[in-house]
Formats: sequence, C-alpha cells, structure tokens
Amino acid sequence: MVRDAARANASPEAGDALSEMDAQTEESERPILRFLTCGSVDDGKSTLIGRLLFDCQLIHEDTLESLSAESRNFGTTGGELDLALLVDGLQAEREQGITIDVAYRYFSTPNRKFIVADTPGHEQYTRNMATGASRCDLAIILVDARKGVVTQTRRHSCIAHLLGIEHVVVAINKMDLVDFDATRFAEIEKDYLEFAGALGIPHITTIPMSALQGDNISRRSDATPWYGGPTLLEKLESVDVSSAATSGPLRMPVQWICRPDPNFRGYAGTIASGGAKPGDHVVALPSARASSVARIVTADGDLESASAGDAVMLTLSDEIDISRGDVICAANDRSEVADQFAADVVWMSERPLLKGRPYVLRIGQQSTVCQITDLKHKINVETLEHVASRQLELNEIGLCNLSVTKPIVFDLYADNREGGGFVLIDRLTNETVGAGMIRFSLRRAHNVHWQAVDIHKSARSTLKHQSACCLWFTGLSGSGKSTIANLLEKRLYIQGRHTYLLDGDNVRHGLNRDLGFTDADRVENIRRVTEVARLMVDAGLITLVSFISPFRAERRYARERFEGSEFMELYVDTPIEICESRDPKGLYAKARSGNIKNFTGISSPYEPPEYPELTLHSGSKSPEMLVNDVIEYLVSNQIIDEV
Ligand code: ADX
Repeated sequence: MVRDAARANASPEAGDALSEMDAQTEESERPILRFLTCGSVDDGKSTLIGRLLFDCQLIHEDTLESLSAESRNFGTTGGELDLALLVDGLQAEREQGITIDVAYRYFSTPNRKFIVADTPGHEQYTRNMATGASRCDLAIILVDARKGVVTQTRRHSCIAHLLGIEHVVVAINKMDLVDFDATRFAEIEKDYLEFAGALGIPHITTIPMSALQGDNISRRSDATPWYGGPTLLEKLESVDVSSAATSGPLRMPVQWICRPDPNFRGYAGTIASGGAKPGDHVVALPSARASSVARIVTADGDLESASAGDAVMLTLSDEIDISRGDVICAANDRSEVADQFAADVVWMSERPLLKGRPYVLRIGQQSTVCQITDLKHKINVETLEHVASRQLELNEIGLCNLSVTKPIVFDLYADNREGGGFVLIDRLTNETVGAGMIRFSLRRAHNVHWQAVDIHKSARSTLKHQSACCLWFTGLSGSGKSTIANLLEKRLYIQGRHTYLLDGDNVRHGLNRDLGFTDADRVENIRRVTEVARLMVDAGLITLVSFISPFRAERRYARERFEGSEFMELYVDTPIEICESRDPKGLYAKARSGNIKNFTGISSPYEPPEYPELTLHSGSKSPEMLVNDVIEYLVSNQIIDEV
C-alpha cells in the first residue's frame, strides 16, 4: 500500500518502470489495465479518480488530514472532503480549480493493477488526451447527468476510437443531482449509443454513478435499484484486454548502440512488440539488411528469450550497419518503409495545421521533417460527417496525406499502436502540435522513383560560367523588394550572367493564380515558388525570388531545400509607415478601409527573419546603393567574380 501511495505521485516514467517490473514478477495476474478518464471541466474526473483511490484504500491517514484542511481552503464541496484535490496534485491547478496536465496514477485491487491517465477537461484537452490515451486499453468518458451527451463527449469518443481504444465506459455521473432518475439515465444512454454505434466502438458500458458520494464506483448503490450492470470497479477488474503487443511480430526500435570495444556491438532498446530469442531471423529497417539474433544481453546475464516491454540489448550474428532510430524486425513480418502515408491527425495547437508547412514528425526513436501534402477531410464530431477543409484548428481531427523528407519505418496503427502512432512538433517553438495514427502507406510512393540524369547542376552552371544560387528577397508589400530585385537582375544581366526573377505578383498570375492570401494559401504559395526556384537553380541560374514570404517556417523550409550556401535570405527591412506612405498600388489604403482582408502588416502577420544573410534598409538607402551592397556581398562570398 505504501508503495502504491508513492506511485500516486511518481513520474510517468518511474511509474511505468515500476509497473513493468510488477507485470513481469506477477505473471499469473490479469494484465495491467491502462485506462484514461476524460470529460468536461466540471464532469468530475478528478473526483472520480479520487474516489477510486479512496475506495481502494490507497489514501493514508496523514494525506486525509491534509486533504480535509485543503478542502476547506480550495475545495469545491463546501468544506466536505474534496476528493478531486487529492489527484489535482499541482499547486497551480488547485488554485485555478482545473486539471492541467496528464497525471498518471497507479493503484491496485486484489484482482488487478491499474494505471490511470487523468487528462484535463478544459479547452486544450486533446493534447493530453491524445498523448495520454495512446497506450490505454479503456476510456472512461464522463457525462454530467444534468447535461447529457455534449460536443466534448463526442469529440473524446472520436479520439478514443481513433486511438484504437476498444472499451469505453460511459460514466453518467452526478446522478444524485437528478435524483437517480432511471429515465434520465436511459435517455443519455440511448443518445450515446446512437452516436457510438455510428462511430463503431466495439465495447460500451454505461454506468449511472455519483463519484462524489461513491454510488456504483466500488459499491453498488441503493439509489439505482433499476440498474443491473456492473459497478465501475467491477467493470475495470473484469474487462478483457489481452494485449496485441505480445502476440505481434518482433519490433525493436534501436535506442542506442553499445560499442565498448571492436569485438562487441550491441543494440539497445525496448521491445515494442513480439519477442526475440537467439537464432531468430531479423532485418534492420530501413536498410533491410538481414541477420539473426546472437545474444540477448542484460546486466544480469544473457536471456533465452525476451518479449514486448523488455529493455534489452541484442547482438546479431553479422556485422550490419544499424543506426539509432532503426527498427529491428522479424525477417518474415516486417514493418513498412515509406516516405508518404495517410494518417488521422488530432490537432492540438492554437495555431492551425497548415497544408505544406514543415513540421517535425517523431515516431518511436525516429525523427524527420514532414509536410501535410493533402488534407482529405476533417471530421464534424457532432455528425461524424467528412468536411472539406484547408486547415485543422485546435482540437479538430482530420485525415491527411503526409510526406517525410526521409523514409520512416512504421506499422499501421490498427496493427500496432506504438509503431503507427506519431507526434508532430512545431519547428520554431518545439511544441507538440499534433498526434497522428498511420492508416496506410501511399502506393504512389512505391511507384515513383528518382530518375538519374547525366547532366547535373554543376555542369549546367559551369557552362554559364557562374555558381547557381537563390537570392530570396523577403519583406512587406511596398518595401522595395521587387524594385531592388529588378535592378539587381539588370546589373547581373549586363555582366553576362544567366538569371531569372520570380516575382510574387507575376507568379500569382499563372502557376499560383488559384491562391489567395490566407495563411494556408501563403504557405502553399511559398512551397510552390520554393520548388520552382530549386529547379531554376538546378538549371544553373542565379535565381531571384521576390515574395513577401511572411512566415519563418516557410522561409526555413525554402532554405533547407537548397544545398550548402546556395540560398541567401535578403531582408528588405522597411518600416511599415514608409511602405504605407509609398503605397505604390494603393493596397494599404484599401486594407485600412477594410476592402482587402488579410493584408500583410495590417491584418496578417509578418515574421521578420532572425538571421538573414543581408538586411537592406530601403527606407534610408537608394535602390542603387542597396544593389551595390548585394553585389559586394556576392563577390565577397565568391558567388560571382569580381566585376
Ligand atoms: S506572399 O505573402 O504569399 O508571399 P506574394 O509576395 O505572393 O505574397 O504577393 C504579394 C503581393 O500581392 C503584394 O505585393 C501585393 O501586390 C499583392 N496583394 C494583394 N492582396 C494582398 C494581401 N492581402 N496581402 C499582401 N499582399 C497582397
């Protein structure tokens, strides 16, 4: 009991380790049940978990004493023991009265051990729900009996379903506030089952309860004689979750490589699914090099076999090249390797998901840059209809095509949750902005191959006696980008150099005429011009790009599409007041009067470069002088010869 109480405050990792240990030592027991609770802010999640811990007698006397003191200060139960305070462990949440992060609790009854992920119910809940739920077998979805099924109930159910959770307990809570009315319960149950039926959740149990008073949590309530189903604890103790991970084929993502001396090379990691024993045929992906398991090494000596969840070090019978992030798989049942696939994505950021914007994709030990190449549809969580959209907002769910810069090793989420689940990370803020579940790899990716050609960029540039490069002008409308770029192109032309100027307004007349000025369209605008500029540099041209290109993320993407020092960012830094006073096309006046929406600098953001190669102050220098500065820069960096 003391150990369990300690776990109630253990970090997820420490707790996981403890629980995995227990799982190994007490094999005769039913598997650990991992579940999560989700609901709206006031549905009573924390109270429910507090009640479970309390009823399972995991709360010490001294905790109880301090709890009753805190209940008087912060509680929401009028000085009564507030069980929610027990689990709302963080001071900040206590003061705000909401739950703000995933908290893992570990507890057990004589029949089973449990790990519960308590996910928050306020607006940004999807982040934690998606991350907390990915390893859960069961979801408790709380419904306030007074309010019935609300949008969030549907959204949580959708996410739980997408995450592959097969068991849902609908906890119809606060029954005491509707006088334990059987008709009200039946109404909500019917409502929910209709929705969940359309969704396709296989196992649903609805339970009328009062977490606050303990009705139907661990004790059958006298107030619901009309209810014949299990109590919550009975349900949790009996639900069958024979794990797919143990039965699947071997997957071990390589976490690190141990090479203490030239005679030993071990690959360390945690077996994600399946098992291994010496002699098993394996392949390392993505290289697909084959070998067989030689030894399974642990600190306590070699093992005869290892299985899902074990942290081990494998040695192989052949010296094959394996890097961190590679996956060791069963040779006869391999993961997929692809750079394009379709996935369900749950978006968790205030800043919308934009098609074409680069994000970091992390899957297992692998990490790569990815783009959403297509947003097939998003899901209306009320009706489950597919809705066309160009972006995903906070908490929205959509089916996307993704493309990664280097092939990744994965399984379909439906086959293997760990191998098919990924997160998306914003490259500028490092924030986790999305969670995804891979549905299938895109066959077109298998059928399109790179065609080798014999004449390369260097050959084409040499013929033109120049180094091809991309000079990327960014700045507000009216800052002087096009004027400077035009003048620069003339100067280079006179010097006999081969150039091309891609100007925003001009490209928007042709290739990009289908695009407007929303964030999503600007991202696509820059993606396309980046690719065009890249082809032009490949053709050996000095390529000038003059686009507002307001977002750092896309300019960074552009930079990364070029080699070495080919790409130069030239920031035309002109104060907006000057741009507005110039107003060469009368657009600022229109924007001010509300006749143009999303106008950069006024109603749409401009993110100035942090580290441009050159900053050009067009408010204080003439275009001719600025062009001289650019030429000087190009000469001193040996992009062009002395003139
Ligand atoms: S970008 O933001 O997507 O890079 P781009 O450089 O292609 O913009 O196009 C900018 C040009 O479109 C401006 O120079 C201006 O002439 C015109 N324009 C029309 N509407 C807008 C708007 N809402 N915001 C900015 N520029 C606009």
